[in-house]
Amino acid sequence: MSKLLTQLHELATQLTISPEQICDIAAKFQQAMENGLRKAPSSLKMLPSFLNKPSRKETGIFLALDFGGTNVRVLLTELLGEGQYRVHARAGSPLKQEAEQYNHISKHSTANHLFDFIAQQISPLVKPDEIYPLGHTFSFPTDQRGLNTGTLIHWTKEIETTGVEGEDITTLLRSALDRQNLHNVIPKAIINDTVGTLLASAYEDPYTDIGSICGTGHNTAYIEPCAPNTKSPMIINLESGNFDQLPFTTYDALLDQQSEKPGEQRLEKMVSGHYIGELVRIIACSLFDSGLLAQSTSAKKILTTPYILQGAHISLLLEDDGDKKEQIASFFENQLGITNSTLEDRQALKKIASLVSIRSARLVAATYIGILHHIDPDSSQNHTIAIDGSLYEKSPNYAKTIQNTLDETLGTKKKFISRLTKDGSGIGAAIATAIAIHTES
Ligand code: BGC
Repeated sequence: MSKLLTQLHELATQLTISPEQICDIAAKFQQAMENGLRKAPSSLKMLPSFLNKPSRKETGIFLALDFGGTNVRVLLTELLGEGQYRVHARAGSPLKQEAEQYNHISKHSTANHLFDFIAQQISPLVKPDEIYPLGHTFSFPTDQRGLNTGTLIHWTKEIETTGVEGEDITTLLRSALDRQNLHNVIPKAIINDTVGTLLASAYEDPYTDIGSICGTGHNTAYIEPCAPNTKSPMIINLESGNFDQLPFTTYDALLDQQSEKPGEQRLEKMVSGHYIGELVRIIACSLFDSGLLAQSTSAKKILTTPYILQGAHISLLLEDDGDKKEQIASFFENQLGITNSTLEDRQALKKIASLVSIRSARLVAATYIGILHHIDPDSSQNHTIAIDGSLYEKSPNYAKTIQNTLDETLGTKKKFISRLTKDGSGIGAAIATAIAIHTES
């Protein structure tokens, strides 16, 4: 066996999550949830949302603002009841664009820059003589004291805009709307994207009690049957990306050390789209000495440029089922400038991507199992886990691996269904706004 093959074998052992490990991680996750709910030390923040399941009767026209860290999206949405909705208009832009030379998420950008940009995206959808209630999906750890107020605890996903951490997000948005003369846009609710996904799915499917994002970032929310303050059901944002009782490899440790915030978001750094490409790159670098890409005179870029591989590239590597791996060859050539990769290189990189991606899906599923054990210890009910995000939607076999891991661990006696909820964070913001208005009246 070549040195590279031996190393790949060793890598497979390190990155495979066994059924026993799934049960162990699920149990630790459940314990961390229960500690967090009791305010005992825990890696899980267990943040209240001040929302319960929708009645499914919510109706009306609302603006939904979705700020997730990559783009700002605005939807003018009409809720029609029982899972039905219509999107009347859309607007939005990426938060950074090299060609247009702006970047609102770097350390050189301020809260005012960022929120002015957000308000500008809302402007094209607004007529001056109408009132627009707005729901804001803000996909970061936010400490909420009510449905329409929330302080950013800290940025995640490597965002560095200054002056936002520790501030009330609705106040920053209100001020920016006023600066843009959008006095007729009225923020009514702020929610996490996992909460939005849960709401959007529950609007249609009453069995939904978990909402999750597997995209650039990772996190999950669920309906806690007995929330600490109210002793009644409430959606709780786990901020599960920060879970840290996990089987780390030396590659995970290296990625963490080189990241913006070492020690934080350890699960997210093992599973989410923002990081898994970098993990594949770090592993590829370590295999260079064993022969991977060693013949290639142009491999320098991949070996030396952090974050050159992104989540979408991992999907691309996984999609190539051809004998010669021609799609991967052209990706190497066009995006990485590697002109003389060997078939062995391409197969090895695909293998690494597949190990990292399967590990991601199985770890995520283990956390869902922890939640299910907490809310339904006897597995006596049906549950729908609503999931949105590019990894879940687009990465080959990702969704299937999650479902298989659930079935393998929980059995198929009851229905534990994981399903895609597209645009959940946008629709969820509209539903939260309808609930806020209903509660006021
Ligand atoms: C954030 C979460 C968010 C998730 C998915 C994480 O980085 O901390 O609040 O739900 O990304 O967008």
